[in-house]
Amino acid sequence: MNDTPFPPFPTPGERLAPSHASADTIVLLSRRRSATAITMAEPGPTPAQRDRLLGIAARVPDHGKLAPWRFIVFEGEARARFGKTLGEVYADTHPDATDAQIRFESERLTRAPLVVAVISNVVEKHKVPEWEQILSSGAVCQNLLIAASAMGFGAQWLTEWYAFDPRVKDSLNLRSGERVAGFIYIGSVTDEPVERARPPARVEFW
Ligand SMILES: Cc1cc2nc3c(=O)[nH]c(=O)nc-3n(C[C@H](O)[C@H](O)[C@H](O)COP(=O)(O)O)c2cc1C
Repeated sequence: MNDTPFPPFPTPGERLAPSHASADTIVLLSRRRSATAITMAEPGPTPAQRDRLLGIAARVPDHGKLAPWRFIVFEGEARARFGKTLGEVYADTHPDATDAQIRFESERLTRAPLVVAVISNVVEKHKVPEWEQILSSGAVCQNLLIAASAMGFGAQWLTEWYAFDPRVKDSLNLRSGERVAGFIYIGSVTDEPVERARPPARVEFW
């Protein structure tokens, strides 16, 4: 997969095939399963694969073409650097925390070679409702999961506590109206996930 050249992204105005019948895609979507971050290992995506994943992630329906999301990429030592903040915030907010618990928190991002924070970046007071803008950033997260899977990696969409912590959000320079849609963990998988119970879809025919 590493050596496979990616097709170019289409340019604005280019005519596109309305469909790409792909049995492989149907299998992928029918059998896709999150891999847990703890089972992830090197190698992660190459820089070219990472850039392609982000490019695909952003190709989602987007009412008003607002692109109401942005990415923060954590790879290499940046994961431990951000983890240090997580450990400090956790220690301050949990005075009884043990050293082991603080270390656990500070090592969260190093579970995977690549972590992408998808930031929902809502354009406030716009005619496109906030709800629709938020849904679009959720689609970005799901696109990342699917694309990572199609590239041969495991992926998991996590928020855990640090997506919601005000001090962590400050450390990420989140502006007013911005929220973490998810931390998407991506890496090679060391242990195959097993299928989970899934409630039947609730469907009614009108
Ligand atoms: C917005 C969002 C946040 C999530 N946050 C967490 C989390 O913090 N911890 C967790 O164990 N699972 C979390 N999950 C669930 C996992 O990403 C995943 O959906 C679950 O393990 C089932 O995986 P699968 O149905 O994709 O195979 C979250 C899912 C979503 C959509």
